Amino acid sequence: MSTPPVRLEGVGKGFVGRDGTFLPVLKGIDMVASSHEFVAIVGASGCGKSTLLRLIAGLDDVSEGTIRVDGRPIAGPGPDRGMVFQQSTLFPWLTVWQNLRFPRALAVNADATSREMWQYLARSHALLDMMGLARVRDSYPNQLSGGMQQRVSIARALVANPAVLLMDEPFGALDAQTREVMHDLILHLFAAEKTTALFVTHDVEEAIYLADRVIVLAPNPGRVDSVHAIPWGRDRTQDLKLDQAFVALKGEILARIRATAAVHADRELMERMTGHGRAPSE
Ligand SMILES: Nc1ncnc2c1ncn2[C@@H]1O[C@H](COP(=O)(O)OP(=O)(O)OP(=O)(O)O)[C@@H](O)[C@H]1O
Ligand SMILES: [Mg+2]
Repeated sequence: MSTPPVRLEGVGKGFVGRDGTFLPVLKGIDMVASSHEFVAIVGASGCGKSTLLRLIAGLDDVSEGTIRVDGRPIAGPGPDRGMVFQQSTLFPWLTVWQNLRFPRALAVNADATSREMWQYLARSHALLDMMGLARVRDSYPNQLSGGMQQRVSIARALVANPAVLLMDEPFGALDAQTREVMHDLILHLFAAEKTTALFVTHDVEEAIYLADRVIVLAPNPGRVDSVHAIPWGRDRTQDLKLDQAFVALKGEILARIRATAAVHADRELMERMTGHGRAPSE
């Protein structure tokens, strides 16, 4: 069997608070993303989704356990992993084209052959075309819509041909219609690319529509609650969201998130404060 691009074993992460106490955020995470698999990660707010992605990106160190990419333990960020954040991280003083070339400009070294450089430029052009951005290649980020900016961010993350694409709520700030367009673009892009994707979202419908598997994290500390295999092939259209089985699966995953979230206590508190809901027992 070939080595999976991403393997997490017993991964834990905690932060030391101001009073010096250790606050565990993630505990005992075992997870594998197979080659060319699209894995979505959902869970209640604060359960550690962003922390998990930052660990895989190598932006933070694990407190315990190991993360391997292509069988090798990671040591910081690397070109084998591309990351897209919720907010645009494009450089405002660079054009779309310059933003795309920036990672390469950083990595310039004496070993880079003109053939490699030519391949890189050709790939940049192809990605811009695929993302419908060729027209705006000389525009600056503030001249683009939010959806376009996120498309540039995704193209930039993919341009170095990473084995793994990490996305943390990349469409969180977009309106519903633009999100739909982005979903179909991602499906198209993912079919064309050889990458493995880990995608964090609050939106369960988005998770099911895009992913091969949806992993629900439970909070306090963050751990795997349940794993849901998505039974549909990758040639999906928006109609799928109306399919009974799709709606049922969405209900099942939402129920898991609600069951693990701390919102019950809040609801009881609200009911007590407003005097609505259940009659007091005393
Ligand atoms: N650098 C840090 N120092 C201290 N605590 C942190 C740090 N980063 C994250 N945390 C804590 O870890 C927990 C998980 O945060 P994280 O951002 O990973 O959650 P999340 O699941 O992405 O939430 P959301 O859905 O709201 O984006 C939170 O309680 C947060 O306060
Ligand atoms: Mg987050």
